[in-house]
Amino acid sequence: MVSVVTHPLVQHKLTLMRDVRTGVKEFRELASEVSLLLAYEAMRDLELTTETLETPIQQGDFPVLTGKKLALVAILRAGLIMTEAIVTLVPAAKVGHIGLYRDPETLLPVAYYNKLPADIAERRVFVTDPMLATGGSASAAIQSLKDAGAQNITLMCILAAPEGVAVIERDHPDVHIVVAAVDSHLNDHGYIVPGLGDAGDRIYGTK
Ligand code: PRP
Ligand code: URA
Repeated sequence: MVSVVTHPLVQHKLTLMRDVRTGVKEFRELASEVSLLLAYEAMRDLELTTETLETPIQQGDFPVLTGKKLALVAILRAGLIMTEAIVTLVPAAKVGHIGLYRDPETLLPVAYYNKLPADIAERRVFVTDPMLATGGSASAAIQSLKDAGAQNITLMCILAAPEGVAVIERDHPDVHIVVAAVDSHLNDHGYIVPGLGDAGDRIYGTK
């Protein structure tokens, strides 16, 4: 299932991210802000219970989070900015890292790092990567999470191509994708069109 977050704040900020004139500082800030707004949607079905407490006025039963504990997993390197933003909302979440880069020739993911919470199988997992292009990186990351026992996985991306969405739906039909927009297509170099360019380079100023 794919959820496109059409909220005007998300769409406005995404447009600013697309703009080639947007510099590193603003791009980072926007990526963090959009990530928080995506988390609002991705986490809308977190379980609640009630706790009895006293306000300064009277006692009552009030909602608090319950259910599975959370894990945020960043696909390095661009996904890092998303987990760093989202962990401020859910500070008890554990954070995992999966290092993958896309070979520029073959467009296939190359794995170089994997460090996950030991109890990942017991946690609800939110995987972050700003870009879902061919889908190769996200599909490989999700497979390594499943190999480690994770069962309840949501993929959070800022921008996707239809090709990447189709790959995740084929390889991992159980995974919910939350994204700010699904663009037109991939170009011959595997970049999302119209897209926003290379997310990692724009976040870290490496181009
Ligand atoms: C980018 C992006 C995704 C991947 C998407 O990472 O952050 O991880 O490409 O492409 P795919 O869907 O075709 O696999 P990149 O390989 O540029 O690495 P980086 O995050 O280290 O810059
Ligand atoms: N990775 C990016 O950072 N951007 C794209 O458009 C495709 C893959």
